[in-house]
Amino acid sequence: METKFFSLEEIAKNDGKDGNKTWILIKNNVYDVTDYLDGHPGGGELITEWAGKDCTKAFDDAGHSGDAKKELKQYKIGELREEDRKQKKPAVPTTSSNPKEDRRSFCSYLTCGLCA
Ligand code: HEM
Repeated sequence: METKFFSLEEIAKNDGKDGNKTWILIKNNVYDVTDYLDGHPGGGELITEWAGKDCTKAFDDAGHSGDAKKELKQYKIGELREEDRKQKKPAVPTTSSNPKEDRRSFCSYLTCGLCA
């Protein structure tokens, strides 16, 4: 099945209020847990307070078992769209904004016999 992508704005609309669905975001995955609230061993309240939001930390901090994580999977409806994800810096910058680094690479260029 094709993955659906949602924006943070769309997710925020599913805040469990006024008959809205209860969606939560965990590690860039979107879950519709509307039908799970009553079944949650910690009580529905704990989840509704995170409705429409990223609860990655709260979910992890609760120390959920492997079973809980497995159960979660069945509620997945899609993923957070790429543009809205927290940007990770690339491990190796492609262009250097650091003049010192530029100087270094220029020096290695000069001293590198292979280039001559
Ligand atoms: C913001 C989201 C959530 C928070 C803050 C939260 C918090 C908690 C807490 C505090 C407990 C312990 C309750 C107790 O021992 O009395 C618990 C248990 C549990 N929760 Fe959640 N929960 C969240 C979402 C979910 C979701 C989405 C699922 C699964 C679909 C889930 C599945 C379970 C299960 C199965 C347990 C029983 C203990 C275990 O197997 O880890 N929870 N939760």
